[in-house]
Amino acid sequence: MSADFKKEHINSRFSLMHAGISDDHSFADEVINGLRSEPKKISPKYFYDDNGSDLFEKICATPEYYVTRTEAAILKEHSREIAVANPGKNLVVELGSGSSIKTRYILSAFIRNTSQVTYVPIDVSQILVQSGNALLKEFEGLIVNGIIGEYEQALEIVAEVYKQPKIILFLGSSIGNFDLTYAEEFLKKISACMNKGDSLLIGFDLVKDESVLNAAYNDKQGVTAEFNMNLLRRINNEFEIMLNLNNFEHHAFFNPEKSRVEMHLVSKCDQSFSLNGSGEIKFKKNETIHTENSYKFTEKMISDLASAAGLNLQNSWKDNNNYFNLCLMGK
Ligand code: AVI
Repeated sequence: MSADFKKEHINSRFSLMHAGISDDHSFADEVINGLRSEPKKISPKYFYDDNGSDLFEKICATPEYYVTRTEAAILKEHSREIAVANPGKNLVVELGSGSSIKTRYILSAFIRNTSQVTYVPIDVSQILVQSGNALLKEFEGLIVNGIIGEYEQALEIVAEVYKQPKIILFLGSSIGNFDLTYAEEFLKKISACMNKGDSLLIGFDLVKDESVLNAAYNDKQGVTAEFNMNLLRRINNEFEIMLNLNNFEHHAFFNPEKSRVEMHLVSKCDQSFSLNGSGEIKFKKNETIHTENSYKFTEKMISDLASAAGLNLQNSWKDNNNYFNLCLMGK
């Protein structure tokens, strides 16, 4: 089946494709279904409206959230080696590129190798317009062909449009926000869009001391709490209701049996509200909405995922604290 997309030329070095993005209608449906289910839940993908994306950038700058800066340091140190291990590749595809800050290490290393690189950032957010323009100013040998859309449709576009050897980036341990079954399924989808010789550079946050994990998702400035509460703000806007945010609180903790940090919004009292004629939603005191899982990986979990997806682990790099593992996988 051929992928469905619209292409927009911004200038001779910058184009954007628009793949199908789930609209606000699906947010409304998911909220209604999620709040009616037992236990209540909402998908973490809905964190990322404009305000949520800004809050996530702020989380990355908190002293407690080590994930982004640890991975950036690994990339800074090893990008050259990664580019050398991928000779002749001039196509860099990135899933969830956001502001593309860490990607600069990879892009400059690949440009040194091949002088002209096509970068295909994929994100649901319009942030691609800004980040693409900034990258073009910085890197003369760069062409940016962004895809605004959901990962699965975007991967179909990549498979259909680009036939040259490529490296796919999936950084930040974003794979950790998928449940383990879907993580395996998603890696299989990435693998299906790779040809022999293509590579996947993927970041995994590792299991570590509980106190480090709990601090990272409960920063002292309360930015992560704001990020979590932003979901309630989105619900208020979407349904034009006035859920009292003071009646909920942020709760995040490491669950060692499940090897994941869980984020919840806890109802501080018995309360109920109606969602635009879709019936009443009732909360008991201490009942929670489960808003995110962030899986923390062991090396065994990583190698099992790779082999389930038909990928081989070619190389990997960790920081000195063994907090994070950046892995290069091949087909
Ligand atoms: C984007 N993702 C990998 C982050 C994480 O650590 O799971 C999202 C996040 N949630 C709370 N803090 C950061």
